[in-house]
Amino acid sequence: MKDSKLENVEIIIVQTDQEQKDAFFVRDIVLTKELGFDIASIPDEIDKRAKNVILYSQVESEIGNLERKPLATLRFFTSNDVVKIGRVAVLKEFRGYQAGKKMMQFVENLVWNEPEYSNIKQIALSSIYDKRDFYLKLGYTIKGESYLEEGCPHIYMYKDRPQ
Ligand SMILES: CC(C)(COP(=O)(O)OP(=O)(O)OC[C@H]1O[C@@H](n2cnc3c(N)ncnc32)[C@H](O)[C@@H]1OP(=O)(O)O)[C@@H](O)C(=O)NCCC(=O)NCCS
Repeated sequence: MKDSKLENVEIIIVQTDQEQKDAFFVRDIVLTKELGFDIASIPDEIDKRAKNVILYSQVESEIGNLERKPLATLRFFTSNDVVKIGRVAVLKEFRGYQAGKKMMQFVENLVWNEPEYSNIKQIALSSIYDKRDFYLKLGYTIKGESYLEEGCPHIYMYKDRPQ
């Protein structure tokens, strides 16, 4: 782990239009412009029912001021008794500072503890194959073989509700 570069980290569920814009801004930069997943920044059917998580932190601006900036996002939604996580994205210059891990833990904390999710037995996701170690470190398990999604190898991963 690198030394902490992120100050005053706030992780919230998107509620306002501005927060929604911020989440799509990060998605667009990371998933579409960097990784080339064109559809990732276009709201889809799942976005109508998904919750978006956004991570803000104080970062130094070009003129040395501290500014609150959106640095990372993901979405999650319920499918029967499974919560599915997707669109996980951290801006490139802020990777390796635990932003991704903190967002994942934020969702797990909600799902395992909030009454709204008491019927949820599992959290699952479709990981880019090359990123599976990030989720393995967080305690996710691989299920099945890799498959192509958007032309890129992915693998299904899950974590069961702690007993
Ligand atoms: C994958 C991604 C979300 C990780 O976010 P991050 O904020 O850089 O990761 P963190 O700093 O929270 O890392 C947590 C741990 O996972 C490890 N890790 C992070 N990315 C990893 C990777 N690609 N491969 C292996 N381990 C990784 C870190 O070393 C860290 O380990 P530690 O807890 O022992 O220190 C981020 O790199 C990203 O947005 N990538 C581009 C978009 C993408 O690939 N999204 C995932 C789609 S499935």
